[in-house]
Amino acid sequence: MTADLPSPGAPSLEASSIEAGPPSITADALDKTFITGKTRVAALNQVGLAIYAGELTMLLGASGSGKSTLLAAISGLLRPDNGVVTALGRDLWSLPAAEIERFRLDACGFIFQGFNLFTALTALEQVQVVLEYAGVRSRQARRRAASALEEVGLGGRLDLRPAELSGGEKQRVAIARAIAKAPQLLFADEPTSALDSQNGQIVIGLLHKAARDHGATVLCVTHDPRLLGHAERIIRMEDGRLVADERPQPAALRKKAAP
Ligand SMILES: Nc1ncnc2c1ncn2[C@@H]1O[C@H](COP(=O)(O)OP(=O)(O)OP(=O)(O)O)[C@@H](O)[C@H]1O
Ligand SMILES: [Mg+2]
Repeated sequence: MTADLPSPGAPSLEASSIEAGPPSITADALDKTFITGKTRVAALNQVGLAIYAGELTMLLGASGSGKSTLLAAISGLLRPDNGVVTALGRDLWSLPAAEIERFRLDACGFIFQGFNLFTALTALEQVQVVLEYAGVRSRQARRRAASALEEVGLGGRLDLRPAELSGGEKQRVAIARAIAKAPQLLFADEPTSALDSQNGQIVIGLLHKAARDHGATVLCVTHDPRLLGHAERIIRMEDGRLVADERPQPAALRKKAAP
């Protein structure tokens, strides 16, 4: 199914989820313009969107189309020039800075392309320190860190440092770090671009599991068309606007429908 998207200035997307329940995040008429010297770039141009718990939503688009800017604007990382983001029922950008930071810490998990691991820490410590920073006591943080690493298949690699881990393993540590907090919202920006196809599939499978088994709202920016089969929903951007919003039929349904 391909839905037509609203024209600029029109209200944001209708809630189009097949899932029950209100969206976890809505964005309404978001604008963000970057000005460098004499150049103005409309990275977001009247973007409206609603995303839902229990779904892996993929965000696609050419380089420079505004994907990372959109992710940052709806996750409390970058204030838009105009528009409203409602995240978990709260008007995100009307909150004081400390509360926005609290929202990111408590409700959001982030996974980026470059892993961002500490070179001196073991896999277990990478996850543990983040939990401790979020206020979890040391012993419990250690236990939860071990179980998150177990979940991503690194139970036997707890004591290794980044230099001793493969790219795929490093990204799985980064995922464990993000899911250990059991965040309601999980944001990933090109999490597979440094990985081979098999590791890319594993990483996306884990993001899908966070949505399906833990009910997280997962938004993942990707360039990789091989990963789209995992998504409940695919959104496309072009020049700062959303241009398509599709819910591919699950493979099982497609097979049934075939003559
Ligand atoms: N901090 C910034 N200062 C100036 N311009 C910026 C800044 N951040 C982004 N832009 C511009 O805004 C536009 C959208 O950038 P954005 O990073 O959101 O694109 P993207 O879709 O994530 O691209 P990519 O796939 O290459 O990561 C680009 O033209 C970019 O150059
Ligand atoms: Mg980007």
